[in-house]
Amino acid sequence: MEELCEPAAVRWCDGSQEEWAELTSLLVEAGTLIRLNKKIRPNSFLARSSPSDVARVEDRTYICTKREDLAGPTNNWAEATEMLEKMHEVFKGCMRGRTMYVIPFCMGPIDSPLCKIGVQVTDSAYVVVNMRIMAQMGEPVLRRLEDEKSGKAERRRDGHTFFIPCAHSVGAPLEPGEEDVAWPNSDEKYICHFPETREVWSYGSGYGGNALLGKKCLALRIASNIAREHNWMAEHMLLLGLESPEGEKTYIAGAFPSACGKTNLSMLIPPDVYRKAGWKTTIIGDDIAWLWPHEDGKLHAINPETGYFGVAPGTNHASNPNAMKAMEANCIFTNVALTDDGDVWWEGMTDEQPAHLIDWKGNDWTPESSETPAAHPNARFTAPAGQCPTIDPDWQNPDGVAISAIIFGGRRPTTMPLVYQAFNWSHGIYMGATMGSETTAAAIGLARTVRRDPMAMLPFVGYNMGDYFSHWLTMGRRIKHLPRIFHVNWFRLNEEGSFLWPGFGENMRVLDWIAARCRGRIAGHETRIGWTPHFEDFNTEGLDDFSEEDFENCMAFVPDEWKAEILSQGELFLSLYDHLPKELIFQRELLAARLS
Ligand code: GTP
Ligand code: SPV
Ligand code: MN
Repeated sequence: MEELCEPAAVRWCDGSQEEWAELTSLLVEAGTLIRLNKKIRPNSFLARSSPSDVARVEDRTYICTKREDLAGPTNNWAEATEMLEKMHEVFKGCMRGRTMYVIPFCMGPIDSPLCKIGVQVTDSAYVVVNMRIMAQMGEPVLRRLEDEKSGKAERRRDGHTFFIPCAHSVGAPLEPGEEDVAWPNSDEKYICHFPETREVWSYGSGYGGNALLGKKCLALRIASNIAREHNWMAEHMLLLGLESPEGEKTYIAGAFPSACGKTNLSMLIPPDVYRKAGWKTTIIGDDIAWLWPHEDGKLHAINPETGYFGVAPGTNHASNPNAMKAMEANCIFTNVALTDDGDVWWEGMTDEQPAHLIDWKGNDWTPESSETPAAHPNARFTAPAGQCPTIDPDWQNPDGVAISAIIFGGRRPTTMPLVYQAFNWSHGIYMGATMGSETTAAAIGLARTVRRDPMAMLPFVGYNMGDYFSHWLTMGRRIKHLPRIFHVNWFRLNEEGSFLWPGFGENMRVLDWIAARCRGRIAGHETRIGWTPHFEDFNTEGLDDFSEEDFENCMAFVPDEWKAEILSQGELFLSLYDHLPKELIFQRELLAARLS
């Protein structure tokens, strides 16, 4: 890589505190980071990206395989050899005048049989300091690799002695004497995955999932390929624990598309009535889950990440107090606004807007004079997971936690009720496979409409979507105690365009019903679409002004909307054609028959 990229220097990262201090200082000098007020937000920094580099770029994201049908119609495909040649072309000399950082990292608890080791080379120190929050990094990872080679390692790891190479460059070489910019990036971007050789090549972007290659690239697109071959699952899911007053713990996994509420749900604080009764929630992870059939017959899950890369706008002390606590120190904020006292601000952080700010583009901003938001809608915080007050004691348990329920949910202004339960595993897979959601600012260049986003994995499945559905069905036959499957929708609107359901902490009431269903404690109401709660079984205590009628509105079944729903699934089903498992076609026909 050194020969190819021609960096001015190479630096091996050890992940130490000293290295963090040195690199953040270097980034402050370079103007990439601004040190926030130490008294308000110690050891924390603000970064402003270039306006052309603010989110994932789905149209520049490729799955590169020998044959096109391996990637399938929902991915951008490129022939692997040709794309690798192209990568060698664009990477040639791409780090001139810059330092190449070598980041050995591990996704998942380092002694877990499922953890994956990667080595990322990058010319961005901003990426290094973010990776240090998001993954185990440096020294311990190299030691693990060496112990495996020498036979000293006690537990075997899936993919023993092997690491996944991840090449990253912002694609902005510096000519001698050329002055650097605060956020270098290239207008030409390629986010390329090679599942057959298990490698990632990312060029041109320094932002989020495009650049922190352990996250979406390794832990989802490459990992989904490994998982399929090795009988486990890599999913875009939060993991949370629900603890009853009796100390009974129920773990739930939830797949929602980008910017649809995973971080919020995973950090949920129960409403007063629940808290006073002794209910608690804990968080294992907020974005990615790796799940496998454990020898105890249950589906176990780990969170491969050690940090949160969360959406800032809308986060506040009322909507998500735990996230606010998690980001009190040791954080990196990207594309939020800067206050006059050297702290951060974003839309929805406080009821009142500050009188003056520097916006995410570095311009003066006042509520009166400015027409654009002060923070970018996809502005993010990078926070260490251990700083969340509700972090689960088992969050780094190499054996993971046993999952009782899987929830699917999208942003649906109509059609989808607050909650319903699948009749069985294959019906649940049909529910997940046909999931829809309004697009958000988490990806660039998408029209704001409802799109099909199967299992919230549309941008993240590293192979043919039809084969991915088959894998879910196959997994069902390998798990003795199957989790129950549910669909939720926090985002249904009334005629005036306001949310029908208060959401956030109140989502606890839905989780309560889900946990009770999993334990077989209450009966459901059998409807044409699945099992729904009887109003008597749905706890509305302390939910002011929420009547039975409001509940019925959240749950309403509108036949015409469902007809349109079934019809609109046709496009995805047709495009997957001969890779689509027959079970899903039958499930769709069964639903159509129940509706007619
Ligand atoms: P990624 O990190 O992109 O994968 O997103 P995420 O799924 O973690 O989404 P997140 O929790 O950050 O939520 C994104 C947006 O949804 C925020 O603006 C929240 O305010 C909003 N949101 C989250 N939960 C709820 C809810 O229960 N009701 C409503 N109305 N909005 C919500
Ligand atoms: C998402 O878009 O789902 C994210 C943010 O979690 S990123 O890491 O940029 O993919
Ligand atoms: Mn995500």
